[in-house]
Amino acid sequence: MLIATDSLFSLSSANTQPCYAGGPATLICKAVISETHDSKTFVFEDTQSRSFDFKPGQYVTFAFDINGERHVRAYSISSTPTRPHNIQVTVKRVPDGLVSNWMNDSLAPGMTVEIADISGAFNWIDIPCDKPLFLSGGSGVTPVMSMLQYITDVTLPKDAVFVHFARSPKDVIFRDQLEFMAKRFSNVTVHLVVDSNDEEGFAGETGQISAELLARLVPDHAERSIFMCGPEGFMKAARTVADALPFAALHQESFGEKITLDEATETGGEVFFSLSGKSGQCAKGETLLEAALNAGIWIDSACQQGVCGNCKVMVTQGEVEMQDMGGLMPGEAEAGYVLTCCSWPKGPVAIDA
Ligand code: FES
Repeated sequence: MLIATDSLFSLSSANTQPCYAGGPATLICKAVISETHDSKTFVFEDTQSRSFDFKPGQYVTFAFDINGERHVRAYSISSTPTRPHNIQVTVKRVPDGLVSNWMNDSLAPGMTVEIADISGAFNWIDIPCDKPLFLSGGSGVTPVMSMLQYITDVTLPKDAVFVHFARSPKDVIFRDQLEFMAKRFSNVTVHLVVDSNDEEGFAGETGQISAELLARLVPDHAERSIFMCGPEGFMKAARTVADALPFAALHQESFGEKITLDEATETGGEVFFSLSGKSGQCAKGETLLEAALNAGIWIDSACQQGVCGNCKVMVTQGEVEMQDMGGLMPGEAEAGYVLTCCSWPKGPVAIDA
């Protein structure tokens, strides 16, 4: 029987455990699974034995203590809320990626980690449709995996097409699961596309994302809503394709590196946190968010790229350099709000935190 609804899977019917409802929590790593030569899945359970209720496609914000320093990072959840006893994130190494490389090298079963919250507007429940086209590059596969598993677990009658791009066959995260889903579920079509094919048995495509390729693989693209996710380089190319071809709607989530300032830009200064009455020094190149964490002041954050808006605060005094990537609503910058993850003080400032 097909359940013709997009409403969130009901945890109450699935288990009797209390449920994590958001906010800070301590999780324990229960398992680490190697996915490819440079990516691993980390399986976490709640230390209070609660199950997890979230929307497929959302991300979890971690605060890791690494070598005595706190690092806040957001990772998309790659598991599905239909399997609510744990959450899983899949993390790929990146050059100079302090946290992602630490996770791959050092995070092991039995270790505990802190999370700040689970959130994210890029999710299947808030923006469902009948004909999704999931488009991802590299580790952008993770929220798509959550959504696809949700669709198949709940047997939603959706006609889903997934086109995933990777460097080579050995770089395709979840390759076995994706091939299995495509075989098992008649409403799921998967196309794997690699830059270069060094494997004889690989049945996917070779090439780069382009309007020609997508039009060939997905001839009914005009009827489909795109869910696009990946590193910024992939997203730029994918947006160009989305501009060139007609689609029903476009939803996107970008995975990128932390925003940094040009080294020549003079920043730094004393920061007064007016709500907590504390002060701290912000070194050159350090963001307001980092200065707050160093001073022991928690500011909610997630993407760390100026996109999600979670880290917004009001500046009541002084001047900052900000690289807003769309996280502020129209008029908020003029009203004095800044995104602390991508704002650097230019001299002494006071902020509401
Ligand atoms: S954490 Fe997302 S905009 Fe700052």
